[in-house]
Amino acid sequence: MSVVTSHSAAVSRTRPFYARHAQAYDLLITDPVEPWVETLHERLVRAGRPAALVLDAGCGTGRHAAALTTLGHHVDLADAAEDLLRQAAARCPRARTFHADLCALDLGLQYQAVTCRGVLNDMLTDTDRDAVLRCFAASLRTGGLLFLDVREEHGSRDRADATPRHQSVQLDPDTHLDFTSTVTWNAGLLHVHEQYTLRCGQQLAHESTYDFAMRPWTQDELVQRLTAAGFHDIETRPGVGRKTPDRLLVIATRSQHAAEPTQPGQ
Ligand SMILES: C[S@@+](CC[C@H](N)C(=O)[O-])C[C@H]1O[C@@H](n2cnc3c(N)ncnc32)[C@H](O)[C@@H]1O
Repeated sequence: MSVVTSHSAAVSRTRPFYARHAQAYDLLITDPVEPWVETLHERLVRAGRPAALVLDAGCGTGRHAAALTTLGHHVDLADAAEDLLRQAAARCPRARTFHADLCALDLGLQYQAVTCRGVLNDMLTDTDRDAVLRCFAASLRTGGLLFLDVREEHGSRDRADATPRHQSVQLDPDTHLDFTSTVTWNAGLLHVHEQYTLRCGQQLAHESTYDFAMRPWTQDELVQRLTAAGFHDIETRPGVGRKTPDRLLVIATRSQHAAEPTQPGQ
């Protein structure tokens, strides 16, 4: 499956971080995987699923999927960014791999758990937010668990202070990437301006900028949309394993009667 219909899926295919510079992703994002993976594992064991069939929706480079697999779960992979998905597939050779738009996800499979970390902020419209949650409900068996990590609105707004944040990574002995991200807040959205400078030795090899927006979540919105999509027992807690306090961990259970998926734009 490689149909891209939503705005967030289109961004996933064009953001340099996920495409041209995808090899830098794991060097730039170094949050430890253990807190997230151990939280999921502990909850799945408590639910009587120590070896669950799990979908990592928006898996990125598959770091969390690989760690969950090591703990005994079978984890499949879905993402719209081909270059990241390729890295995830290499890391998780036994996983089924789906190049898919999560807002139109239709795998014909039902999982015991869906995990979606750091992704739902990319869905900007109400339509896409409802569509992705309905697709997750349809991808879960009744009683299946949904694990989300999302940006929380107030914490996100406080951090969006227009301060440029720089990182520098060595991609190979000759190649070096400088990355700067500047985030501002306007009308409920985080506006992200990214600058990429690639150097081979002392030579400038490529320079680009990329602008996109993210829309954080409130607890009220999470409960309202998850309930409408067919989830119950919705727990929200502070995020786990994040370097900043602007994240929420959400765990929800798929109800017996979940809403039918809608396509983005319907
Ligand atoms: C910030 S990364 C998080 C990756 C991984 N879950 C992690 O925690 O490292 C967001 C991921 O969501 C994917 N994504 C965003 N919108 C998507 C969509 N509509 N369909 C599929 N993947 C999407 C991106 O391609 C990217 O891999």
